[in-house]
Amino acid sequence: MYYNSVVNLPLYTYLLSNNSKIHQINNNFQTYKSTKSQIAQMRKAIISAILISAIIISGCTQSQAGNKDTFTIAEIAEHNTETDCWLLIDEKVYDTTDYIISHPGGTAMLQGCGTDATDLFNTRQMGSKTPHSNNAEDLLKDYYIGDLKIE
Ligand code: HEM
Repeated sequence: MYYNSVVNLPLYTYLLSNNSKIHQINNNFQTYKSTKSQIAQMRKAIISAILISAIIISGCTQSQAGNKDTFTIAEIAEHNTETDCWLLIDEKVYDTTDYIISHPGGTAMLQGCGTDATDLFNTRQMGSKTPHSNNAEDLLKDYYIGDLKIE
């Protein structure tokens, strides 16, 4: 028995320490696995938060514009300044505020802000007295925001 203990002690010590090493590795692996799944959960949460924010922001932007595509004459008339200029042309409504600064005809466009500017746009009485070019007609499409509401 004594002999057995003395001879096998190093073996038992080795096995014991080895066992605790395995235990340690196993623990590390478990921690690694749970850290990995936590990261995956966080990633899912971040992606969901981004998606939800995008949906909310796009909803707000739409409702800021009134979320409608028809406007009455009275509504159009409210947008009659150089910092907020809507034009009604052929029963279509255009927000041309951002174009004022680059308009080749300068401030001539301001005469039409908030009004039915069909004649002004088509005849350019203050200028060449000719209709706008096809290029101008194409540009106009970029500023379309809705139609005239027939009351
Ligand atoms: C009430 C509205 C508007 C009026 C009175 C007006 C008037 C004018 C005038 C006087 C000119 C100078 C050339 C000329 O005398 O023939 C001009 C040029 C021009 N305008 Fe306007 N404009 C108006 C709206 C717009 C809008 C909404 C656009 C485009 C979004 C536009 C695009 C252009 C372009 C591209 C030119 C260069 C010449 C051409 O391509 O016909 N204008 N405009």
